[in-house]
Amino acid sequence: MRALVTGGTGRVGSAIAARLEAEGWKVFAAGRVHGDISQVETARAVVRTAAEALGGLDLLVHAASDGFRPKPVEEVTEEDWDAAFGATAKGGFFVTQAAAQLLKEAGGVVIMIEDVMGIQPWPSFAPHSAAKAALSMLTKVFARALAPDVRVCGIAPGPVAVEPEQVERRASESLLGRIGSPDDVADAVVYLAGAEFVTGTTLVVDGGRLLQTARGSKP
Ligand SMILES: NC(=O)c1ccc[n+]([C@@H]2O[C@H](COP(=O)([O-])OP(=O)(O)OC[C@H]3O[C@@H](n4cnc5c(N)ncnc54)[C@H](OP(=O)(O)O)[C@@H]3O)[C@@H](O)[C@H]2O)c1
Repeated sequence: MRALVTGGTGRVGSAIAARLEAEGWKVFAAGRVHGDISQVETARAVVRTAAEALGGLDLLVHAASDGFRPKPVEEVTEEDWDAAFGATAKGGFFVTQAAAQLLKEAGGVVIMIEDVMGIQPWPSFAPHSAAKAALSMLTKVFARALAPDVRVCGIAPGPVAVEPEQVERRASESLLGRIGSPDDVADAVVYLAGAEFVTGTTLVVDGGRLLQTARGSKP
């Protein structure tokens, strides 16, 4: 069992990579050092490098993301927009496109690491929210495009790795009264990697954050 984890050097991605390894997977954990996946040719090269190192591919986890910076919509720049869409949506599309044939041969799985902000609009993170909504749609688009050979699922985490000064606020925003951890996302990856009748859907792992906001708070 061979897995490429984009964003595999980040907080969530490294927990996913470690968990998969503990479950017996061979893992290629890609960070920027392996190539900027917001560039199409580099995205393809990262997939090629990983597949060569692993001897094929059974699982692609797309956890890379950039441009997660709070800013009022009036101040968002083209650079902010491109950073958010580049790694998350464009990168997610082109790594999946590049991995598709290998995954078909293996009867593999794609797991997109989305965000509750792709479901719920967060005005302070407009480009990130929009890029994650695009990624959420790509989960469904690729599920249809690659069926029946490849399953494609998403995970939408709530706060699982936040700055220390944000912990109390984010905890109070969830129904469970606490933040999660990257291991909660890794658990969901292991579940979806083996969930043979699940495709085209997104598992929310947010401690009830989405429902809590529905009661009135504005992030
Ligand atoms: N943290 C949370 O609470 C939380 C909540 C909801 C959703 N998520 C989602 O979970 C995923 C991981 O989040 P995180 O908190 O672990 O983020 P992180 O620590 O900032 O890690 C980001 C990862 O993406 C890689 N990356 C960024 N831009 C790239 C590019 N252009 N090309 C290639 N790789 C690139 C980084 O590589 P380098 O290490 O080389 O910089 C790093 O591995 C993201 O999709 C995020 O939106 C996180």
